[in-house]
Amino acid sequence: MERESLLNPGSTIGIIGGGQLGRMLAIAARQMDYRTVVLDPDPGCPSGQVTDGQIAEPYSSRDASRELARSTDVVTYEFENVDADSVSAAAELAPVHPSASVLRTTQHRLHEKNALLKAGVSVAPFRHVQSLEDLQQAGVDLGFPMVLKTATEGYDGKGQEIITRAEDIERSYESLAARKTELIVEQFVPFKMEISTICARTADGQTATFPPSENVHRNHILDVSIVPARIPDSVTENARLLAADIATQLDVVGLISVEMFVTKENELLVNELAPRPHNSGHYTMDGCDTSQFEQLVRVLAGMPIAEPKLHSPTVMVNLLGEVWVDTDGDPDWARALEMPGVSLHLYGKAEPRVGRKMGHINVVADTVEDALYIATEARDRAWRRSR
Ligand SMILES: Nc1ncnc2c1ncn2[C@@H]1O[C@H](COP(=O)(O)OP(=O)(O)O)[C@@H](O)[C@H]1O
Ligand SMILES: [Mg+2]
Repeated sequence: MERESLLNPGSTIGIIGGGQLGRMLAIAARQMDYRTVVLDPDPGCPSGQVTDGQIAEPYSSRDASRELARSTDVVTYEFENVDADSVSAAAELAPVHPSASVLRTTQHRLHEKNALLKAGVSVAPFRHVQSLEDLQQAGVDLGFPMVLKTATEGYDGKGQEIITRAEDIERSYESLAARKTELIVEQFVPFKMEISTICARTADGQTATFPPSENVHRNHILDVSIVPARIPDSVTENARLLAADIATQLDVVGLISVEMFVTKENELLVNELAPRPHNSGHYTMDGCDTSQFEQLVRVLAGMPIAEPKLHSPTVMVNLLGEVWVDTDGDPDWARALEMPGVSLHLYGKAEPRVGRKMGHINVVADTVEDALYIATEARDRAWRRSR
């Protein structure tokens, strides 16, 4: 029953995965006086710096995930590349949200696309690739360009090849087939914009969606999120309805992040799902009255969820390792924070590497244009790149 699953402040949330998403979840939990324990092998991980406890074992260890479940009241995970069997093992001892079955679907691009089709959701035409011949046939069926992807373990564009002509098929196939995971190939979508919408869903089926963000990627890594997205209101509304529909049809309890392409005709094609907080939802920390992390804490605790509202236009810019590398480890935060409406979020990662997500800047302003200008300028200042 509903009341049985209500966890009051003082209860403990277990988090599998110790990255920045777990860290920001733990900070939101702490605000409401929930306790947190993280499972991550790295003793200095971003989450472990702020959680009450850490089990420093591999995520794939069943014993460790059972130990996490035994020492907490509810368990969640903050990235998809965790072993679904160890999540199932935890589920024998504590509620796990979203379920191991949602994880299994969303961690495998083919299962994910098939689940979306079954739910009546539009996706780019795709083919399962089990041989070079399959990929050659896909070139005939789908046309060029097409995007070859590993079915599992891809992120930030890793495990992807864009194939622009038939002559490149063999080389792309060889390069990804070497990874020994299943492959999928998709038609390249000439989108006019990428957006994402995060939906929260409770155990009793209530949903609430955050405003969609307009996402700009650089080198396949999210660079900037702009909210409100610069699309017609009807498309915004459709994106929210679509995300809520997916959450319901997949029976998600927790958060589901839905990445979509907006076509020239303003159609929405779903690209991928993530059953967790999302980089493109970091704007909610300063732009909304409830953040994605607080919302997830509420779902996990069985508390009522908020109907999140954007109170001001907000832009997020990611801070990747190059900001540190290019400034010899000394970004100019003071100059960045001189700009109005800037909030700095850093993840506590000791080692900056090019392309590594180290933090983000949120900027809240009166208009989207102002927020975009200030956010870019603040990052350039930290990066010591401004004139
Ligand atoms: N079918 C496609 N058509 C056009 N662009 C694509 C397609 N698939 C992926 N991309 C581009 O590559 C980015 C990363 O791909 P995605 O499938 O989201 O993988 P991941 O985020 O896990 O690396 C997308 O955000 C988009 O910019
Ligand atoms: Mg993606």
